[in-house]
Amino acid sequence: MFTVFFVGTLLASAGLIDGAFLRHLEVRSTDRRSLFGRQDQASCLNKDLIQSASDLTGQEPGTDGIKPGQAESETDANNFINFCEGQEITNGKQITTGSCNGIPMGKIPAVGNMISAVITNPQQGAQLPADTAFNVSVQTAHLNAGNFVNPTTNYYTAPQDLDGSGDIIGHCHVTVQDLGSMNTNTPPDPTTFAFFKGIDDAGNGKGLLQAVVDGGLPAGNYRVCTMIAAQNHQPVAMPVAQRGAQDDCIRFSVAAAAGSGLSTSTNKNKNMTQNQDQEGFVQAGNGNNSNGHAAEKNGQGNNGQGNNAQANNGQADNGQAQNGQAKNGQANGQANGQAQNGQAQKNGH
Ligand SMILES: *[C@@H]1O[C@H](CO)[C@@H](O)[C@H](O)[C@H]1NC(C)=O
Ligand SMILES: *[C@@H]1O[C@H](CO)[C@@H](O)[C@H](O)[C@H]1NC(C)=O
Ligand SMILES: *[C@@H]1O[C@H](CO)[C@@H](O)[C@H](O)[C@H]1NC(C)=O
Repeated sequence: MFTVFFVGTLLASAGLIDGAFLRHLEVRSTDRRSLFGRQDQASCLNKDLIQSASDLTGQEPGTDGIKPGQAESETDANNFINFCEGQEITNGKQITTGSCNGIPMGKIPAVGNMISAVITNPQQGAQLPADTAFNVSVQTAHLNAGNFVNPTTNYYTAPQDLDGSGDIIGHCHVTVQDLGSMNTNTPPDPTTFAFFKGIDDAGNGKGLLQAVVDGGLPAGNYRVCTMIAAQNHQPVAMPVAQRGAQDDCIRFSVAAAAGSGLSTSTNKNKNMTQNQDQEGFVQAGNGNNSNGHAAEKNGQGNNGQGNNAQANNGQADNGQAQNGQAKNGQANGQANGQAQNGQAQKNGH
């Protein structure tokens, strides 16, 4: 097309583009797209989708909801589309040394579709026999369960998505950790778990999901938690900060039967290099594989995804309602800025 040649030549003579780019344009000039048309292609941000709020820190004088103690938000005029520049990108891998993921958060459900879960087995405070198989049962609400992508190649590669009813499409994990003492004051090490399982089926189709702990557990004091994830394994994102938790945890103990010998359970102190669940290879190095830090393969099958496990709740930690509490299941876009110190603002208008 003449337009392409003309612009290309102009830019080239102005020293703005190099010959390789011009040759690229010449090749593409045989198709019907102009240079300007090409800028509307998928690799460019559609300007209608720019979230102008991201260009403000939230601390500009007169901003709704402003309060002493708040941090300034990072800003970007273009949705942080190049946020990961110069960093190792996640690119579908579980990278234990950390990485930067540039995929959008995706579709956020309405408040009437927020996920909730309760562990129905074991019960809080239960005492189970050692080395004996048991089920972890979880009743979920508003999770379109049993959907998971390849965790080795597609970890965090696509946004959270909703089904036709507005529920998050995803899956649930259960993770069991040995607490030492039941009322420990020490946060358990997230890289170590006694049992981990992604529940990759839809259970009874009514939200009741189950994982069997084959072989049971050795004697000890344990915490079992759900970790509910979207299809690409990211923690689920919710529409409002002030809400009930999407996950549940309960604590239980396991006791050796009188006169029994040493525990035979294999479910003890598992970590990311030793895991019975098919949650994909964990990348030990920088995900680059070309520098000798290949994916850890320990000959025991699949590695775990113990990393990033507790990243849930995104913005829930400063007690501020961005949206008020929409009573009628309708998210109210007006920030009311008045819900403070955990007091739910009921009207949100
Ligand atoms: C990936 O490997 C290439 C080739 O060895 C190297 O040039 C590059 O710096 C590596 N990237 C990272 C993020 O380490
Ligand atoms: C786990 O639950 C399933 C389905 O209800 C049941 O068939 C199975 O016997 C249970 N397993 C154990 C170890 O309780
Ligand atoms: C994970 O467990 C294996 C086998 O028990 C052990 O050799 C390894 O050091 C552990 N790794 C970490 C990070 O704890």
